[in-house]
Amino acid sequence: MKSEFIGKTQSGIETYALENDNGMRAEIITYGARISRLFVPNKRGELIDVVAGFDTPDEYRDDHGTYFNAIIGRVGNRIGGSGFTLDKKEYKLYANDGANHLHGGKEGFDKKIWTAETGERASLMLSYLSADGEEGYPANLSVRVTYSLTNDNELKIAYDAQSDGTTLCSLTNHAYFNLDGDFKSALNHEIYIKSHAITAVDEELIPHGEILDIENTAFDFSVSKPLGRDINAEEKLLKIARGGYDFNYILDGDNSGAAASAYSKNSGIKMSVYTDRPCMQFYSGNFLDGFTGKKQYPYQSAFCMETQGYPNACNVKEFPSISLKAGEKYHTVTTYKFEICKE
Ligand code: BGC
Repeated sequence: MKSEFIGKTQSGIETYALENDNGMRAEIITYGARISRLFVPNKRGELIDVVAGFDTPDEYRDDHGTYFNAIIGRVGNRIGGSGFTLDKKEYKLYANDGANHLHGGKEGFDKKIWTAETGERASLMLSYLSADGEEGYPANLSVRVTYSLTNDNELKIAYDAQSDGTTLCSLTNHAYFNLDGDFKSALNHEIYIKSHAITAVDEELIPHGEILDIENTAFDFSVSKPLGRDINAEEKLLKIARGGYDFNYILDGDNSGAAASAYSKNSGIKMSVYTDRPCMQFYSGNFLDGFTGKKQYPYQSAFCMETQGYPNACNVKEFPSISLKAGEKYHTVTTYKFEICKE
């Protein structure tokens, strides 16, 4: 197992590689602490790259609003009206999604150059200090993300953060997966999500507090089914989300087994997601429009499983809080495990 420095662009973006003993390999760039490549073995024993992205690090600076495989912060997902009240003080955030704040604002963590340090075995620590007032958020927030590969073909992401005053913190990774590696369509993937409820959204995809029971509906993946099976169902929310899934699933939360999984028969690759987070955004790439990076990325050619706190929790008092107090330790771990399933 190893972690190594690969190179640095003139503009200052570094690339690192992590490798386990089975040849599984992750490449990470310091721009947005993004996973630029993730090679996993398919059923034919070939290593295929299962994340979307670009050929060179600098191209991520214009990622067509995708947030390809980046660390998202301070707060993943949307904050309605781009504002919130904390300790009786009102804060105004940068509005980068109509009137709303999405994925950290104008220049979220996905657009920052992080400081990297290789760790033991196949691991890499990336840190970033977000200054008091950045994008409108209060307090200094120091963040550390550790990526590691294990010999069980897991990519582990540990998120640590600490602030010097009360602020909000809800970090995630925005990886776009296609387990065939060809990014033609994600609709053939078998999806499982251990959840029976989603947070309902308004026309601007903002959760407002209502929780929808999804049992036996088009949104239900608690018994695995192909991503595309019910995607065209007559459901208002599917239409609002540009004809697909873009919803926050409230995980059953019994901490046993995977929170979610995806499987493709073509490659035989199954990916399972383990997390200590209460929720996961399941997004079926409805904003992809066919632009070209490493591959071409048509509409719904990839999916994201973004583990997270409750979205818009800072404005919905019924949702568990995503605030972090001075000195409190934010620590969460999400693991993506890859294996071959033979039929
Ligand atoms: C959101 C989508 C958004 C996408 C950015 C996802 O996490 O849920 O609505 O368009 O990120 O490309």
